[in-house]
Amino acid sequence: MKKISVLSVLLIISVMFLASCGGGSSNQGADDKTNENTQMSEQKAEPEQTPLEKQLALGEKIYKEKCIVCHQADAKGIEHAFPPLAGSDYLLEDPVRGIHQTLNGSNEEMVVNGKTYNAPMAPQVKTKEEAVAVINYVLKEFNGYTDDQLLTMKDAEDVEIDPLPIAPQTPQQQ
Ligand code: HEC
Repeated sequence: MKKISVLSVLLIISVMFLASCGGGSSNQGADDKTNENTQMSEQKAEPEQTPLEKQLALGEKIYKEKCIVCHQADAKGIEHAFPPLAGSDYLLEDPVRGIHQTLNGSNEEMVVNGKTYNAPMAPQVKTKEEAVAVINYVLKEFNGYTDDQLLTMKDAEDVEIDPLPIAPQTPQQQ
């Protein structure tokens, strides 16, 4: 009789144990897993950005912080004042020159899509990384360049950083 009751106590304990770890917690276990999975994919989302995606995100940030005031949200510029960057024959003819202008500014008469511009543009960024990023953003976002047509850091190799002494302007001051 004693043996039986010890066995049954053991049985009950093991049933309870199984119930709490297996059956009982199975729902909870599933919930935990779902949470874990979503958390994991949320965490993964950022590191999974490719170097190019990161570069273009930086370019977008710079464009929206700096270039947009003059060259406008659609990059079509303002006639007679700020030349377009979207569909700009001048930029597309030589995008590396665009890197140079973004770093050093520009103060020369230029004809863009048949219109003459000659207001100065102050230097906009300090590093080649930033210049390549924003020009690539412009090429992809507003000129339909595919990823393999974009500039690389190697394209910026020979660009000299020698900023023109032009004070930053705002469109209102023009
Ligand atoms: C304060 C106004 C202003 C801001 C801000 C500005 N630009 Fe310009 N941009 C100009 C003007 C004016 C010209 C014409 C310069 C000249 O005639 O020398 C120009 C010319 C250019 C050109 C060559 C012409 C063309 O249309 O292809 C490029 C490329 C360019 N800018 C890129 C940029 C980028 C990239 C930024 C942001 C990082 C920027 N600019 C910010 C005013 C501005």
